[in-house]
Amino acid sequence: MMRITIPKLKEKKSVTPIVCLTSYNFYTSKLIDPYIDLQLVGDSLGMVVYGMKSTIGVSLQMMILHGKAVVSGSSRSLVVIDMPFGSYEESPSIAFKNASLILKETGCQAVKIEGGSHMAETVKFLVNRGIPVMGHIGLTPQSLNKFGGFKTQGLTYKEWEQFEKDALDLENAGAFAIVIEGVASDLATKITQNREILTIGIGASAKCDGQILVTEDLLGLSDYVPKFVKKYINLNTLVAEAVESYANEVKERKFPSKDNIYEMKKK
Ligand code: KIV
Repeated sequence: MMRITIPKLKEKKSVTPIVCLTSYNFYTSKLIDPYIDLQLVGDSLGMVVYGMKSTIGVSLQMMILHGKAVVSGSSRSLVVIDMPFGSYEESPSIAFKNASLILKETGCQAVKIEGGSHMAETVKFLVNRGIPVMGHIGLTPQSLNKFGGFKTQGLTYKEWEQFEKDALDLENAGAFAIVIEGVASDLATKITQNREILTIGIGASAKCDGQILVTEDLLGLSDYVPKFVKKYINLNTLVAEAVESYANEVKERKFPSKDNIYEMKKK
């Protein structure tokens, strides 16, 4: 099966919604691969996998190791890897050094960086040197300390101008898509309708060109579920029930049963 390419993904604009999910490990990647267009190895793995309070502490090495696992587990979806905080902001050449390492080590197709107009020069530098880039605007979690928390953006018209300019500048810089996170729905709709760049929404608008969610959130594995998430199953409860049954059977010596042990050969 051929992997979806960036030109193929771009053809979906105004034709069919693009389905994206986050992914951090081999089994999840394999499970979700047949149903989606794009897997993002998001730096949200800091919180979801490592129990961190934010994405700030995520390292390049973590992204590369999880990225390798996700590329191994998938065969058809496009794999994009987040550049972690501190790995791209300083200069376009440092961004290129780290982005090229991510591509070489993992075999992924693209990187994602947070930020709008102020990152456009870096995006252009990477794209011109063969590294496809996805942008990320609106509520950008790596700027948590600047925002003073995970706060929805663009709730007043006054704020719209900068976000619209962010999208325009990223498009002009050659980014193939932008994640628009945690903004007023009408703002994300307007950007989607006015721009050629693909828009992938999370807590944004149903009219974005695609949607993304953290897989663990939709599976009901996370403790905290924001308004923009829909839980499609409550795996927490199912896992707790399964583990409780296992614990009871071990204590009652019902597990392992004859089916789960090796007998000596008769002769
Ligand atoms: O890190 C992440 O998982 C993300 C998505 C939520 C878009 O950036």
